[in-house]
Amino acid sequence: MSETVVDLVPTSQSASPAEFASYRVSIDLGDRSYGIEIGAGLLGLLQEGLELPSGTSALVVTNDTVGPLYGAQVVEALRKRYPVVHTVQLPDGEEFKGWETLQRIFDALLTHGCDRKAVLFALGGGVIGDMTGFAAATYMRGVPFVQIPTTLLAQVDSSVGGKTAINHPLGKNMVGAFYQPRLVVCDLATLDTLSPREMSAGLAEVLKYGPIADMEFMQWLESSIDALRSRDRAALAHAVRRSCEIKAWVVSQDEREGGLRAILNFGHTFGHAIEAGMGYGVWLHGEGVGAGMVMAAELSRRLGLVDGAFVQRLITLIERAGLPIRGPVLDATDNAGRYLELMRIDKKSEAGEIRFVLIDGPGKAIVRAAPDQLVRDVIDACCA
Ligand code: NAD
Ligand code: GLY
Repeated sequence: MSETVVDLVPTSQSASPAEFASYRVSIDLGDRSYGIEIGAGLLGLLQEGLELPSGTSALVVTNDTVGPLYGAQVVEALRKRYPVVHTVQLPDGEEFKGWETLQRIFDALLTHGCDRKAVLFALGGGVIGDMTGFAAATYMRGVPFVQIPTTLLAQVDSSVGGKTAINHPLGKNMVGAFYQPRLVVCDLATLDTLSPREMSAGLAEVLKYGPIADMEFMQWLESSIDALRSRDRAALAHAVRRSCEIKAWVVSQDEREGGLRAILNFGHTFGHAIEAGMGYGVWLHGEGVGAGMVMAAELSRRLGLVDGAFVQRLITLIERAGLPIRGPVLDATDNAGRYLELMRIDKKSEAGEIRFVLIDGPGKAIVRAAPDQLVRDVIDACCA
């Protein structure tokens, strides 16, 4: 069984959360490097104060939930920066992350006569960010884009690192491209309008950074989880900043996921199977990742990589974040078989062999295969 071992000790640049005002995290990718701006009220700086790519026009891509909340403010600000600003408002939902909706972005660009100096702005959560990024990667073979993530999940994960994609009915994020944004603007104030369920889903992507990379951060999360759920700004700023620092470090080592970057998928192999198996949008991405992290941790324990006390500690944290700790039953007759079938379509699979991100001792991740029977046992033990 081939395996990728990851021994990651990211450098913490974090100051005390109490010092929070606004932060900038840099992602170092040579001539594709960019900044992640983190603070409350940053939408107000779009008209001046933030360095935006120059262009002949701007297209704001949003959806019918986020558009009415923040679209007018963003468009008004961008009008001070670009000769012309257009908007396209897409239907809201993971189930719309596909070809037909993507086509509407190209329709808008072409109908408005946008040239290759157009700049795209993704205003929304991970669905809007992933689709806008893919549109930017392919429109006229590539135009610049800026991420304005408005969910916690998008601020700590999906807006950073340049993975762009749409779903295929047979598998999640199966069609896409690596394409980096020019800037990421995380306005913490936009999280005020997010539902508690979406906040919890976002916390799943925050929690993952502890067990895979930074036990100090995990400890901080254990003492700050209630503050995060109640949207304490200083706590959120620290969580977004530390998550982005870790992700930026990983991506700068392995932009195109030759090895190391796969650790960011802790819990996702099981989670993607849950999302696809239930039908996109039924379980939120972060909810699948929550239950998926429990399964991945339990698999790690059964492989002798981590002890039961650590797994229980992680389960407690996931539960306190308001996330499911058990997976759904996807098939009443052969549930584990259905999970395995769906997991084989995972992008980490090699020649049909599923590769899992596992915890190899607290704060350290490993990517490797596991015997089918062991995986079956874990699924049987961890599903409702
Ligand atoms: P999402 O984009 O569907 O947003 C969640 C919901 O919150 C939506 O209904 C949205 O309209 C609403 N919303 C967004 N901002 C809001 C706000 N400020 N106030 C009120 N409502 C708001 O989901 P998500 O959790 O942000 O992202 C999940 C997606 O991200 C998945 O498609 C997943 O595959 C993808 N993802 C990508 C990466 C990557 O590296 N590219 C990483 C993780 C996840
Ligand atoms: N969300 C996992 C990654 O960006 O690699």
